[in-house]
Amino acid sequence: MDPRASGLTQRLADAGQSHLLQFWNELSPEEQADLTIDLQGMDFQEISGFFKNAMETSSNSKQEKMDARMGPVPREVLGSVTRDRDSLKDWELAGLDCISQSKVAALLLAGGQGTRLGVSYPKGMYDVGLPSHKTLFQIQAERILKLQQLAEQKHKIKCCIPWYIMTSGRTMESTKDFFSRHNHFGLDKNNIIFFQQGMLPAMDYNGKIILENKGKLSMAPDGNGGLYRALGNQHIMDDMERRGIEFIHVYCVDNILVKVADPAFVGFCVQKGADCGAKVVEKTNPTEAVGVVCKVDGHYQVVEYSEITLATAEKRSADGRLMFNAGNVANHFFSFSFLKDVVQKYEPKLQHHVAQKKIPFVNTQGQLIKPDKPNGIKMEKFVFDIFQFAKTFVVYEVLREDEFSPLKNADSQDAKDTPTTARHALMSLHHRWVLNAGGHFIDENGRRVPAIPSLKDGTDLPIKCEISPLVSYGGEGLEELVKGREFHPTLMIDESGVHELVKNGV
Ligand code: UTP
Repeated sequence: MDPRASGLTQRLADAGQSHLLQFWNELSPEEQADLTIDLQGMDFQEISGFFKNAMETSSNSKQEKMDARMGPVPREVLGSVTRDRDSLKDWELAGLDCISQSKVAALLLAGGQGTRLGVSYPKGMYDVGLPSHKTLFQIQAERILKLQQLAEQKHKIKCCIPWYIMTSGRTMESTKDFFSRHNHFGLDKNNIIFFQQGMLPAMDYNGKIILENKGKLSMAPDGNGGLYRALGNQHIMDDMERRGIEFIHVYCVDNILVKVADPAFVGFCVQKGADCGAKVVEKTNPTEAVGVVCKVDGHYQVVEYSEITLATAEKRSADGRLMFNAGNVANHFFSFSFLKDVVQKYEPKLQHHVAQKKIPFVNTQGQLIKPDKPNGIKMEKFVFDIFQFAKTFVVYEVLREDEFSPLKNADSQDAKDTPTTARHALMSLHHRWVLNAGGHFIDENGRRVPAIPSLKDGTDLPIKCEISPLVSYGGEGLEELVKGREFHPTLMIDESGVHELVKNGV
């Protein structure tokens, strides 16, 4: 196949990307065919427009701090699991009601590359080393199953929570294959809808597309905000409409504590008549590197920690909390009609953000170089970029220890958000569920373990305890299993009963 004959050489020359064919004559016929397909599918004009806009926005935003334009989340749009305890039950019932009418869908963002974790397979397939060895996908699937059951029991009608799963070109096949090998974890496979987000090439600072090897472009998914374009391209909104979905819970694959389709969050948003809601955790440390939900020039958005000065980050409200304390955890509620508007009207208005990266590349001599400092950019949209378009925006504050522990990095001595921290967060939550339901733990000498474990040998390892989501979604229904009983860790509660793994030599 001659690229000149197909007009590709000319298109590349016009786009200033001729270097992509530099090694053409060294490629095998298969490699040539693959490269041709990749290049022919590319809209160079659009990509170059994205690059120019993203670079321009990024250099403008570097110069200007946001401080003067920012305002905190007003109390009237805020719901809080700690400050509004009296309303919690109501919200949960309202959410369960919507779920029972099959109006609620879960939408999982699982198109990331997981580069920091460093495994070659999708992050949802990761086993953080729980006693059950369940993967993130399985935990989430079982939460959906349980929630369907809870709604059905309450309302005595059959319901379903469709699960939309966004993957990328790199993760689609392995994700689908994993689900089918595991029999879709007990869910009806017709209610799991996979769809694929777009990819964009990595570029150097001059807008030249980077070659990953002689015959392959360096491509990356277009950010979790690629969601909106993918929803349109892949006709997912039509599928939602057919199913009568009215509310959508969007969340990230890496949070081991995520309450998928959380009825209290959904109920709160629905009762407030919101078209868009953000779940947040309280930021308590001014220098914590987390984006905060706030108003900028009167519109809601997430402001990154790098965009404000320390003085603003340290500002406190009258109640002593940080003024900008709504820590974004990429966990959102959308009404169907808002999401449809976003997909149809607003998505093209979103700018890509620039992420400076160390991108392995082939140099003009054909050598593969692994740079030790950033040499180019990836372009990404973010899922929360659309807050600005919401007419009724609400914020829902939850406890970090109950709901947020992301898996980002591989285990190492001082890394944050690792398999170990995720595993500990889940076991510690389940330990508290058992205590709250009236159960106790005893050590190897038969002594009760204090509810707040003391530091033993300088470590604060949690009690080993895991409760299957098929038994309890959020701590409910455990009294009949644990009240007044004493357990040796490792305690495991699943559909087959209550098990003490160590005592039984398992
Ligand atoms: P992160 O930004 O933490 O990225 O994604 P990541 O891919 O998991 O990890 P690194 O940065 O490569 O180490 C937050 C969430 O957004 C999803 C991820 O799958 C995760 O659930 N995501 C990210 C997408 O769905 N698509 C993307 O293009 C990027």
